[in-house]
Amino acid sequence: MTIHIGAKNDEIAETVLLPGDPMRAKWAAENFLTSPRLVNQVRGMFGYTGSFNGNRVTIQGSGMGMPSLSIYANELIRDYDVKTLIRIGSCGGMQPNINIRDIVIAQTTSYISTPSSTIMKEVSFSPCADFELLHNAYNFAKSKGIKTHVGNIYSSDTFYDERPDLNEQMVRHGIMAVEMEAAELYTLAARFNRKALAILTVSDHLQTGEALPSDEREKTFAQMIDVALAAAFPAK
Ligand code: HPA
Repeated sequence: MTIHIGAKNDEIAETVLLPGDPMRAKWAAENFLTSPRLVNQVRGMFGYTGSFNGNRVTIQGSGMGMPSLSIYANELIRDYDVKTLIRIGSCGGMQPNINIRDIVIAQTTSYISTPSSTIMKEVSFSPCADFELLHNAYNFAKSKGIKTHVGNIYSSDTFYDERPDLNEQMVRHGIMAVEMEAAELYTLAARFNRKALAILTVSDHLQTGEALPSDEREKTFAQMIDVALAAAFPAK
């Protein structure tokens, strides 16, 4: 057990999927895993462990924003020795060619700060995805005809942004989408020599104002879980 995770040491798998929303963790475990078992409910941040094609998997909510994700990712790595961490979340599209329902895979992430920024001092660290996970995810998505973009995203600390000029610069520099967790996840994976990937569905668009209707959120989320599981456990 840790401060924020109530699971016993052997109740967390080596591979963990991390949706921001704990209710999504419950839904994903119940719909995609064989014999899912609730292993954490501290603060209502549900975690479930089950199996997929004979492989043990945990699906653990991370909460919103880098400080929250950082707590869960640190404890999963340090206390449960998790090797592979895959964020499954939503993002806001920022480019005209990025549409609602598309999948965005973060090859790298830009950010203003992360909970790890202070230890980097003057260095502008570049968090990056694990190449093998990225390769597997992209190939699977492509084989299924899922529209998928791979490149740079922006991990922001603010959802209700008061600095439109920042977004303008991000758009100008080809940033595909904004979300709030991936930069810290990739930084922790680098620090502890683990594998990480952030797979995101575009739930809204900053330029068009379009948003995914709530009845379609489940379907796009399901597609993303397929991609995440195929990234971790590619068909042989
Ligand atoms: N901003 C930040 N995070 C997000 C957004 C957004 O517009 N959409 C989904 N996650």
